[in-house]
Amino acid sequence: MDERVTLRSHLDRSASRTPRGDAVAAVIEAIAAATVDLAALIADGPLAGITGQDGGINADGDRQKDIDVAADEMMRLALADAPVAAVLSEEAALPETLNPQAPLCVAIDPLDGSANLENNISVGTIFSIRPRGNDILSTFFEPGTAQCAAGFVVYGPQTTLVLAHDESVDIFILNRHTEQFLLIKQGVKIAPDTPEFAINASNRRHWYGPVRAYIDECLAGTNGDRGADFNMRWIGSLVAESLRILVRGGVFLYPADARPGYREGRLRLLYEAHPMALVMEWAGGAATTGRRRILELGAKTPHQRVPLIMGSVRGVRDVSAIHEGIEPMFDNSDAPLFARRGLFR
Ligand code: F6P
Ligand code: MN
Repeated sequence: MDERVTLRSHLDRSASRTPRGDAVAAVIEAIAAATVDLAALIADGPLAGITGQDGGINADGDRQKDIDVAADEMMRLALADAPVAAVLSEEAALPETLNPQAPLCVAIDPLDGSANLENNISVGTIFSIRPRGNDILSTFFEPGTAQCAAGFVVYGPQTTLVLAHDESVDIFILNRHTEQFLLIKQGVKIAPDTPEFAINASNRRHWYGPVRAYIDECLAGTNGDRGADFNMRWIGSLVAESLRILVRGGVFLYPADARPGYREGRLRLLYEAHPMALVMEWAGGAATTGRRRILELGAKTPHQRVPLIMGSVRGVRDVSAIHEGIEPMFDNSDAPLFARRGLFR
């Protein structure tokens, strides 16, 4: 018999002391229940008829797979039975109204990183919960500080739920036999200074000066300005990278770059950057665009993109320091500031 605390009893304990506690707990439980079914579908994959074939194009022009469409449907159905006024999904152009008088709104990426699935690499669901204002669309456009809870589920060797709730970040693992999430780590704190970075280095030629300078300094190891030998990781799956940061620290960067369509980065503010930033900050880490704290940003459009740099406070602070006073430049790797920082200064 497993004596660990279940998600439900964990939420029950805090429901009375957090604002809208019962409603927030009900929404988290609804999402968690849907992820149990989604985890099973993902694990079965082709055996359950998931072909990985095209499901069409989503509102933002991304290719969808059949599993993206199925995940979106599962999350919508679950949220329709919860105290949720409206849901904004990565898979739809605009928020959908569910229960207009309900106290909460949810932004959700039903299945992040589905391109990884054919390779059996971890994917996930990311969610952000905020109180409903008078107008639904402007509710979603409030800064990320308006979130009252957020989190993500990783479908990997284990199904892991990371929950930022009641100003704490807690980690649960799914017991597949009882279909319950069980608490394995409470009050997670991100190591403040881990010499590890994650970035898609194949885009180096498209980066702007400060990002190039920071990564070059990391690569210079103990001889460089950072004075440490850095390790590198890039999974290409935001949820897996975020969980790694919670477990062992480091910094993750998906910056803006010079490619068409990437001038504001790749990741979406409302259902990728905002929830991850809440998780990072409540775990003692940080999240920025390089210039501004992610949680202070409000969206102007539902699927707005944003540069995202997050993780250990030291790494995020160092990247931000390099950005200070410098405008983004996409075309000049040899600008004097960055030439000065090279190995052969
Ligand atoms: O948003 C989808 C996503 O797969 C993220 O999970 C991941 O961080 C990113 O895209 C990877 O992007 P790229 O393929 O450009 O490295
Ligand atoms: Mn995504």
